[in-house]
Amino acid sequence: MNTTAGGLETVTEEEIAGQWRERARRSGLRRVMRSSQPDSLNTGVTERTRAVVAAQLGLVADRLGRRPRHVLEIGCGIGRLTPAIAAQAGRVHAIDMTPAMLDQARATCRHLPAVEFECVRADRMRPPRERFDAAVCVWVLMHVLDESRLADTCRVIAESTRYLTLVEYEHARVPVSKWSRLRSLEDYVRLLPGAEVVDERMIDYGGDRSFAALIAFGERAGR
Ligand SMILES: C[S@@+](CC[C@H](N)C(=O)[O-])C[C@H]1O[C@@H](n2cnc3c(N)ncnc32)[C@H](O)[C@@H]1O
Repeated sequence: MNTTAGGLETVTEEEIAGQWRERARRSGLRRVMRSSQPDSLNTGVTERTRAVVAAQLGLVADRLGRRPRHVLEIGCGIGRLTPAIAAQAGRVHAIDMTPAMLDQARATCRHLPAVEFECVRADRMRPPRERFDAAVCVWVLMHVLDESRLADTCRVIAESTRYLTLVEYEHARVPVSKWSRLRSLEDYVRLLPGAEVVDERMIDYGGDRSFAALIAFGERAGR
């Protein structure tokens, strides 16, 4: 644990990684959603999120004139959304930094041969040789606390994909914990070179609001 000059408590990357390893020991959706919320709400919000992600991948298909061939899921957790993404895509490459989350995701997707998993930190990703048609990133970048590392990560994401579905909290009734940063869609757009928001929806989670934005990148974004 560190303290900034202003007296704010900050946490290190290793502490954040440890917290996700701990959270992976919870049960069901509580591993990737708030344990303070009732299971029925977590299930309902998950259904809504799957529908939003599927709709935005459908918009990508409309714009490309074909189904997305290769989709990157950044921070897939236990695979809560992965089958919904796979249903809209040729292949899915899903990454997460927490091995026990990935174990659960692999089990959830064992019937989906077009999904592959990789244990890697989003903030250590390198751009692929060939851009993904789309990427999906739900409630992950808010856990990258270091602003300069977030900026680097956003640059790599913009270089790695033609479209991005980004879901992050923009309003929370209670202050977010020391494990997260509340940022607006505009904050992310500023950090994503070449970003243009082409669709924006809202996901309500017990009164807390997340934006769900479909972002398009120009052909040479970030390059
Ligand atoms: C709130 S969960 C969301 C999981 C999934 N996107 C979903 O909506 O169900 C956050 C996930 O991101 C992963 N994560 C957090 N920071 C990460 C990072 N820097 N790189 C890769 N994965 C990360 C955690 O291990 C966890 O599985």
